[in-house]
Amino acid sequence: MRAVDIIYKKREGQALTQEEISFLVKGFTSNEIPDYQMSAFLMACFFNPPSFKEATYLTKSMLYSGKIFDFSTIPFPKVDKHSTGGVGDKTSLIIAPIVASYDVAVPMISGRGLGHTGGTLDKLESIPGFNVNLTFQEFEENLKNINVSMMGQTQEIAPADAKMYALRDVTATVECIPLITASIMSKKLAEGTDGLVLDVKFGDGAFIQDFKKACELAQWMVKIGKSFGKKVIALVTNMDQPLGNKVGNSLEVEESIDVLKGQGPKDLEELSLKLSGYMLLLGKVAKSLPEGIKLSQKAIENGKALAKFKTMVKTHGGDESVVDSFTCLPKAAYKQEFLASKNGFIQKIQAKDMGLAAALLGCGRNTITDTVDSSVGFTLHQKVGDKVQKGETLLTIYYNDEKKLAASMAKLNTAYAISQKRPRFQPLIRKVIS
Ligand code: URA
Repeated sequence: MRAVDIIYKKREGQALTQEEISFLVKGFTSNEIPDYQMSAFLMACFFNPPSFKEATYLTKSMLYSGKIFDFSTIPFPKVDKHSTGGVGDKTSLIIAPIVASYDVAVPMISGRGLGHTGGTLDKLESIPGFNVNLTFQEFEENLKNINVSMMGQTQEIAPADAKMYALRDVTATVECIPLITASIMSKKLAEGTDGLVLDVKFGDGAFIQDFKKACELAQWMVKIGKSFGKKVIALVTNMDQPLGNKVGNSLEVEESIDVLKGQGPKDLEELSLKLSGYMLLLGKVAKSLPEGIKLSQKAIENGKALAKFKTMVKTHGGDESVVDSFTCLPKAAYKQEFLASKNGFIQKIQAKDMGLAAALLGCGRNTITDTVDSSVGFTLHQKVGDKVQKGETLLTIYYNDEKKLAASMAKLNTAYAISQKRPRFQPLIRKVIS
């Protein structure tokens, strides 16, 4: 077999076989097939998108390029959640302990923030001592002992995807639904779970902004997951404004704990309960979504979810006092109010601009090697649809550096739109695909 013949076939829109796709992926992972040939193949895929069958072959080849977890010794169903990323999205910190407080194990392999989106690992690391760099053995041990653990992506999980994604990023070949599906699902299938709940974001702050495209991606991922024998449900959810009221790593830990105490903002609570409800359904603890939601609410009310969060923090070496008081979390030195420029209703809080403004403050990174400032961020006092008066505080900015504050405020100025008409209500959860 020769890579050039496979590229030619794809370029001409012909169907590839499993052997051909596997040859390419294996050869690329072992450096026998060079970047320029894989780049050509990816561009051919962009113009002639792989069929469902080809995407299955691709997912399989990428999945088997690395290690697959075997959690068969853990007696409970294993269920995870994956979000395609957004701003203020801290649901993992809330739903993992809710679900793990029942007889369901939650192995979560999470990512770091990049660009305008936040990352679960950065949020967890704002808790002093919290270690996300676990070995497989430590991860498995935690799951056996406390039903939940969170760690970062390692080079052993779907290494073909790490290489291919890096190449797609610089060859303008990211936005191809079958390639995205294979990329995300190869990593998620490697976790060895029985079920997966996907939160596919659409809207201004999402990586796929168009609702229909987000639905298409959700459908592909659900179908691929099922073809691998997994139970998969996807929620297509709105990311036109930040989720919850806090953006920034330690601030988001605070808000997650607030939700676990039953004192969180409504939108974040609503999405968290739906996601955990579906996870409990896939984990066979609940027989229906309403029951899953009820059980999730119960875990919050009886304190079991918060207790599980505390145990998780302690097990990961973190300061468990965070559950009782936020004093151990890093705090920014200064704060500044950001005020409404006129009277009216908030039409928009562009999530992407908000995410970029947070990144400029120090919450995020431009390259994966940048370090983040855990203490900075925003608290939103108003959300879309709220009536405001000129001069009223829209948000409080927590910062450490005047120059970063100025850059961040310039972005915030473009994030808000205020006008006289009340905006139409947009549901947070727009569609469920199962
Ligand atoms: N996230 C991924 O992991 N892969 C993609 O292709 C796009 C987003």
